[in-house]
Amino acid sequence: MTATTDFEIHPASGPLPAAQRAAVLEDPGFGQTFTDHMVTMRWSAERGWHDGRLEPYGSFTLEPATSVFHYGQAMFEGMKAYRQHDGSITLFRPEENAARFNASARRMAMPELPPEVFVESLELLVSQDRGWVPEGAGRSLYLRPFMIATDPALGFTHPSRTFLFCVVASPATAYFGGGPPTSLTVWLSTSFTRAVRGGTGFAKTGGNYAGAFAAGLEATAHGCDQVVWLDAMEHSWVEEMGGMNLFFVFAREGARPRLMTPALTGTLLPGITRDSLLRLAPRLGYDAVEGQISIDEWREECAAGTLTEVFACGTAAVIAPVGAVRSERECWTVGDGRPGPITLRLREELLGIQHGSAPDPDGWVRHVC
Ligand code: PLP
Ligand code: COI
Repeated sequence: MTATTDFEIHPASGPLPAAQRAAVLEDPGFGQTFTDHMVTMRWSAERGWHDGRLEPYGSFTLEPATSVFHYGQAMFEGMKAYRQHDGSITLFRPEENAARFNASARRMAMPELPPEVFVESLELLVSQDRGWVPEGAGRSLYLRPFMIATDPALGFTHPSRTFLFCVVASPATAYFGGGPPTSLTVWLSTSFTRAVRGGTGFAKTGGNYAGAFAAGLEATAHGCDQVVWLDAMEHSWVEEMGGMNLFFVFAREGARPRLMTPALTGTLLPGITRDSLLRLAPRLGYDAVEGQISIDEWREECAAGTLTEVFACGTAAVIAPVGAVRSERECWTVGDGRPGPITLRLREELLGIQHGSAPDPDGWVRHVC
């Protein structure tokens, strides 16, 4: 694996005027507006990684036969740059995204990128477009590194021999809105499967998301906000949501609260927010473990009052409470259906670390500029 860290810099001749940019940053939504620049880099079997560029955000020209359009050899990452109170900008655990990027690359038979080059590409884009990082808790600049197969050939005898890596950036509020979190109603998908053992569930590859849209439409038709994926064999064990991991909170009078998140079986994405909460929770006085929970246990423990809160977590979503559950057969509420105190405390603490108002004992925050 060879790499050059010499990115050529080609600044945009006409960046968006500051007043228009400020208007976008007032209420950026999620993934709708992109900054003035992007990073691109090419890979070929002969040259390895080459032609790294910071250049104006713009379109690609690709032949119709380009491999990614047909066989979906593609992968991405998701992370955020945060504005701190002193105006500086940070990333949150970017080395973890670099490691997961390479885990996805191995599964998808795509080239790995040296982690330091991955992080450098993010820092370059964030520094160049630092005026696009919004202020305020829950707001950030969402970064989307991705890689696609670019061989213009339809043969299916071997993976592509050329690839394009790109990073784009988009100012964002949290996925479910910037205000105080409201509870989600989730749909238990028993007719669709997201991932199987030996498949691509742990990789951040487009096909996992493409296959999820039909279940998302089913969820919407049943008045739900999100799909909860169950295991492929029994459709009984909870795995994760479409773009988030799940945590279950068990709290009994007088006992230390216990958080449980489904274990990484290879079928779910190893979320960096999930990992951060597993480490953060004990510092706040909660036990935090990986385990498993069936949908029957979820319903029964809610009825018994021992399972008091459920929340989803991820880069885009931050921490989103789950208030109600529906499936073809049943529906129930979690607690009183409203965001629970442990969910809100974890959310505040995580956002505090990310925005620099809470201590960062694990060194998760990386200063960029
Ligand atoms: N699960 C899936 C399927 C996702 O797409 C994401 C988002 O990246 C997550 C979980 C949460 O991962 P992270 O916390 O690293 O953003
Ligand atoms: C992220 O949180 O970064 C994700 O990739 C979720 C995405 C599907 C919006």
